Amino acid sequence: MKTFHLVSDCIAWRKNIVNTVGFVPTMGALHAGHVSLIKSSKKNCNKTLVSIYINPSQFSQEEDLGSYPKTIKEDLKILKGLNVDAVFLPSDNEIYPEDKPDNFTYENSLFKKLEGKSRPHFFYGVTKVVSRLFNIVSPTHTFFGEKDAQQSRIINQMIKDLNYNIRFISCPTVRSENGLALSSRNNYLSHSEQKQASVVYRGLKLVEENIKKGNVNVNQLKKVFTSMINKNQNIQIDYISIACNETLEELTIWSKNSLISVAIFYKNVRLIDNIVV
Ligand code: PAF
Repeated sequence: MKTFHLVSDCIAWRKNIVNTVGFVPTMGALHAGHVSLIKSSKKNCNKTLVSIYINPSQFSQEEDLGSYPKTIKEDLKILKGLNVDAVFLPSDNEIYPEDKPDNFTYENSLFKKLEGKSRPHFFYGVTKVVSRLFNIVSPTHTFFGEKDAQQSRIINQMIKDLNYNIRFISCPTVRSENGLALSSRNNYLSHSEQKQASVVYRGLKLVEENIKKGNVNVNQLKKVFTSMINKNQNIQIDYISIACNETLEELTIWSKNSLISVAIFYKNVRLIDNIVV
């Protein structure tokens, strides 16, 4: 497995590849969710490159940039075990060089919805770094997880808007045996806390059950979720949304293929999850 720290080395590697290159951008602390993205890349592409970079521009001052889980040794072991072709581990200065203009201004209509309301800075930072990484890696395919549904919609839209010649592949959420969506931030929680936090998925499934029984009133469906979650003292709901899966416009009446997405705080750890019903 090739390991690159410099943009120039990454670009030089890419130049010699004529076949397909799958790209899986990550912030490390790899788990089975990342592994599924990488396996999908390996299945679909001749070469696979994974980046590990904790992107400061997608964190606000109040957020957990300083404490974000770092497990680089374990991550590299996982990547070697998966026979990944190359890993890119840039420094901040490689991605955001002080002597180069920082004038990326992309935005689309999905930025301010859902996560964007609670984390207004977030998608500006995500699109900025992903765009830079796309420019460096020039992948033919890229792989993102459905756990971050809004991020996936936004990156897919950015690919179209900025004319990147990249095939976007969305991969299903991977869950622990009790249903908790895998996330690097689960590392902040003990095993028993993770088990308690999995009530979020059961809440989503209860909403789904209600829909299947014919309850299509979005306010009532949100109440179903809220009453289940509010029984847990450690969990605070940030939002629950039932929205169009493409435009992310909020609905008042459920309609087929809606995105039901939530963000909660388990103590001070923010977790997100969603299902499409
Ligand atoms: O989903 C993530 O891990 C990050 O938002 C990403 C896409 C790697 C950009 O930093």
